[in-house]
Amino acid sequence: MYYIITLGIIALLWMLRNYWKWHKEVVQYIDKIQGPTAYPFIGSLHVFFGTTKYDIFKKIKDITEKYGPFFRTWSNNLAEIHIMQPEHIEIVLKSSKLITKGRGYDFILPWLGDGLLISNGPKWFQRRKLITPAFHFKILEHYMNVFSQKSRRLITVLEKEANNEVFDVYPYITHCALDIICETAMGVSANALENTENNQYVDSLYKTSELIINRLFTPWYHSNLYYLFPEGREFQRHLKILHGFTTKVIADRKKILQENPSNKISSSSNDVLINSKQKLSFLDLLLSANETVPDKDVREEVDTFMFEGHDTTTAAISWSLFLLGNHLDLQEKVYKELKDVLGDKKCPETISELNDLQYLECCIKEALRIYPSVPIIARKLTEEIVIDGYKIPKNVYCSVHIYKVHRNPKIYPNPMKFDPDRFLPENTTSRHPYAYIPFSAGPRNCIGQKFAIYEEKTVLAAILKTYKVIAIDSQDNVNELGELIMRPEEGVRIKLEKR
Ligand code: HEM
Repeated sequence: MYYIITLGIIALLWMLRNYWKWHKEVVQYIDKIQGPTAYPFIGSLHVFFGTTKYDIFKKIKDITEKYGPFFRTWSNNLAEIHIMQPEHIEIVLKSSKLITKGRGYDFILPWLGDGLLISNGPKWFQRRKLITPAFHFKILEHYMNVFSQKSRRLITVLEKEANNEVFDVYPYITHCALDIICETAMGVSANALENTENNQYVDSLYKTSELIINRLFTPWYHSNLYYLFPEGREFQRHLKILHGFTTKVIADRKKILQENPSNKISSSSNDVLINSKQKLSFLDLLLSANETVPDKDVREEVDTFMFEGHDTTTAAISWSLFLLGNHLDLQEKVYKELKDVLGDKKCPETISELNDLQYLECCIKEALRIYPSVPIIARKLTEEIVIDGYKIPKNVYCSVHIYKVHRNPKIYPNPMKFDPDRFLPENTTSRHPYAYIPFSAGPRNCIGQKFAIYEEKTVLAAILKTYKVIAIDSQDNVNELGELIMRPEEGVRIKLEKR
């Protein structure tokens, strides 16, 4: 016994020594980089004290403005570098080794688990390989049915608002996007558009995102003692609702598959027979690979795709409407293109039609530039790197400020101006490949980016073909909430006029 205790103490001292050595090295290198003053325990988090959920993103922007384009912060005793130049971003995102996610994702873990967004190493690699075929072009072609059916339903539901009164279109888009992800990737009906007044899953999702960001910037919430605080308990309450929803989605799909043993994808609106495993939609692929994907892992992936698959596109569609509603001349150009491509049709039905909507695509890309749905992503640097001549030791964290590279005036003159022509082919050729990264880039880029663009195009085309959209708020008075997803604080207040 004495022998074991002695060995234990030696091992502990050895670990402490290594940690201390590493920490000394980190301090030595990281503190050569400028950044806000750091104090013991709280690091530089004091700069966020007193900020509320409404101004946290503004604070991040102020700090970035003051110390950027390359600076460091400390959170407790953890160092983090912040990058926003295409050349710096390329070093991190291009690497096939730097794929481990940053510290903030630890706080998302209780919700999304070790799904594709957060996992790393062999688990991420195998899962990415397994799921990639579910977003193949052939599968997306089949999803067009759902995209247009739900878009048509949306314009019908919006009819009651086409009376020149101001309303917030954000909840309508949210419910439409939720229906779309459920009926495509999950193969079940959510019918969220049939009740746009309230949805427990959506309410809990917003609250959970807000609580996660608050935890990130509050040092005494970082350990698991968080769950003893009222805020931690509130977080757990919302998690129960979120997990309850996704558990039901899986149970519903299993039931449909049991009643339909020939491995068909035959959700209510997607009557397609696909027998090859290579061509199964997302959830069917996970369920049919039952031996290799345990139930817990299926839930994690469903939680991940349910969130990533609708909250991001909702924000992107809503910001596009906001910007086009502020630029009626450009909206007329979109409308003209819609009439040319669709004729009398209310909504696109094929990918070939979507491909012809080139100007609409420029508008979508430009909206994602100014207001990227995911404004910041982060990595843990599992290898030493060099940036601007500064050595960054292993295990330091790294935040990539997507919104900031998108708003760099040297790359995009007058960056807050909505100018879709920036994405005409002739204007993009000389741009640095890492100067436009709404879907991230490199090995951990967004698996759903084609899905997202097709969905966005279909929904926006349907709305703009039927209605003229007039925005109430302008870019100057809109407050960007930087939770996990960037959204406008007051939603998107618009008026609709029937075309
Ligand atoms: C406009 C819409 C979207 C935007 C702007 C967007 C953006 C992003 C970004 C920036 C990342 C990298 C995240 C990180 O490194 O932490 C990401 C990853 C991811 N996205 Fe998207 N996304 C969108 C839509 C979608 C959709 C529709 C789906 C699913 C149907 C999806 C599923 C995922 C998944 C699973 C990952 C993790 C991929 C991996 O690490 O292998 N996203 N997305």
